[in-house]
Amino acid sequence: MNQLSDRLNSLSPSETLAMSQKSNELKAQGVDVINMSVGEPDFNTPDHIKEAAKKAVDDNFSRYSPVPGYPALRNAIVAKLKKENGLDYTAAQILCSNGAKQSVCNVLMALIGPGDEVVIPAPYWVSYPEMVKLAEGTNVFISAGIEQDFKITPAQLEAAITPKTKALILCSPSNPTGSVYTKEELAGLAAVLAKYPQVVIIADEIYEHINYIGQHESIAQFPEVRDRVVIVNGVSKAYAMTGWRIGFIAGPQWIVSACNKLQGQYTSGPCSVSQKAAEAAYVGTQAPVEEMRVAFERRRDLIVKLAKEIPGFEVNVPQGAFYLFPKCDSYFGKSADGRKISDAGELAMYLLEVGHVACVGGTAFGAPECIRMSYATSDENIVEAMRRIKEVLGKLA
Ligand SMILES: Cc1ncc(COP(=O)(O)O)c(C=O)c1O
Repeated sequence: MNQLSDRLNSLSPSETLAMSQKSNELKAQGVDVINMSVGEPDFNTPDHIKEAAKKAVDDNFSRYSPVPGYPALRNAIVAKLKKENGLDYTAAQILCSNGAKQSVCNVLMALIGPGDEVVIPAPYWVSYPEMVKLAEGTNVFISAGIEQDFKITPAQLEAAITPKTKALILCSPSNPTGSVYTKEELAGLAAVLAKYPQVVIIADEIYEHINYIGQHESIAQFPEVRDRVVIVNGVSKAYAMTGWRIGFIAGPQWIVSACNKLQGQYTSGPCSVSQKAAEAAYVGTQAPVEEMRVAFERRRDLIVKLAKEIPGFEVNVPQGAFYLFPKCDSYFGKSADGRKISDAGELAMYLLEVGHVACVGGTAFGAPECIRMSYATSDENIVEAMRRIKEVLGKLA
């Protein structure tokens, strides 16, 4: 008997979490697995942030917070947006949630209903299409392959927009590809969007600080679209705070107020102690952010170099985030020990079960010819993982 709603039945389970779980099961059996399937920094939260959280506990920040978050945190985010992004917002235009994931979902649930289309460039973060499905909207994908560095062009965007388009989700730096849109590229997309005032732009900038080309560029900087951009960001990736669950949106008042109403009935304000920790992250020293960024850049260079030595792997050079997204479909149709690899999911499973390296097949990211590898792990792990991958791929014929 299945009494679940159609909404729930239409939802796919998260493939990234599934691979991570499978990898943990093998580890529990004593197998030495290198886990490159997870999307989180391997660093600890910086000490001054942890101290702020301890103080928040002692100071009895133990009650419900305002639904959109404490004013002190929202003011700290307003100051961050001004200082780092040159963007003016009021505290009333900020809404803090349980991670950037809830932030994206709030916006989609507030805006999208049956018949509404959401344009999503592929490859995409696994959760976007599922959230659109939850909101009973329709996904419209734009494919951008490795030959265009996984980035959509203005012409592709224009071709995807219809009178039913309500939103575009743009993720830069990108999970899963690491691609970053330049200011000029964003200007090209903004010029198209200027012609379609009904389209809200959800700009997921959660990887803002993990960027190897210098200054982060936000599509919110362009006046022709500024009043309908919703920036999504948070502390998870930049400050190694994935478990603290603080994200935010900054956007037009009507959308922020709608999300506030939704969140007020759904989860209320996010964890009070985590909010004090996030405030410390934004107002305190930014030195740890740069230290982590430098480490990620070194690992990016290492993994790209090693991946280029693997026959049949085609790689771009990611400009941000901590993922490599090799195209590896030249292995599809090959076999080893009677085991045939027909798609990216089977390749990822082969790498896990035979090579003991956990990656995620690209299908869930809208790119069935690729696999995603997270290099948010030590240099030693990267070297050993790539050695194992090269070895077991070499057995496929
Ligand atoms: C592109 C993207 N957006 C949002 C999130 C969610 O971030 P948070 O942990 O703050 O919910 C992630 C996490 O993996 C992500 O990769």
